[in-house]
Formats: sequence, C-alpha cells, structure tokens
Amino acid sequence: MANVTFSGPGMPRDCTVYAVAGDTSTILALAKRHEIPIPFQCQDGECGACLIKVTPLGDKKPMAVGLTEKEKLTLSVNGKLSKDALYEAETNDVPPAYRLACQYIVRDEDVLVEFSGEPGVE
Ligand code: FES
Repeated sequence: MANVTFSGPGMPRDCTVYAVAGDTSTILALAKRHEIPIPFQCQDGECGACLIKVTPLGDKKPMAVGLTEKEKLTLSVNGKLSKDALYEAETNDVPPAYRLACQYIVRDEDVLVEFSGEPGVE
C-alpha cells in the first residue's frame, strides 16, 4: 500500500490517500476519485495540463521509472524534461521531478504530488 500526498491550491490542506497494493490507476484517476483538483484536459499524455511535481518520500530507493513515449515528448516540449533528466531516467532509473498525472501509474511507493492548479504549470 502506498501513501500519496497531494498538495495544491483549492485544497484546505495537504491530503494523503492510500493506494491499494496492485492498483494500476494513474495519479490523475486516484486524484479524481478523491476529488483532488489537479487540472487536466486530454487525459492522454498530449496536452501537458496535468503537470505535477513528484517527490518520493521515505527512506527507500525511488522505484524504477516508467515514462510513456507521450509523456517523454510532452514533458520535453514543455521544457520539463531535459535531455540529461531523460538520460538519467532511461539509463539509471532516476525519476524526473516532473510527470504527467494522466500517465504516471501509482506504485507501491510513498510520494508527494504537488500541482499549481494552473493547467501545465507545476
Ligand atoms: Fe493532457 Fe494529462 S491531461 S497530458
């Protein structure tokens, strides 16, 4: 089971929700289920509206990165994934700071998810 803590405007305070082990929902789906107001539009990795900043919590080594091709492209075009960060993600499993909530699959890892409330702005 993973704790996912959401932090952003429109919320009276940070909100931690529990993702059940084996849940393969996206962060966006989890947020919608709990009425967390992460902006979104296409829900398909193309618009960048659901940009989030993800920080692993706890002492465990961050889990391997699973960026979709659409996520790589959209984050790169929006200046949120440098070539160095992409290399580190693909080669050394170093998670990039910025992700798309509609592409990021919940994993068995505690994370802080921050969003600005403005589409495409973390
Ligand atoms: Fe469009 Fe996530 S909602 S990229």
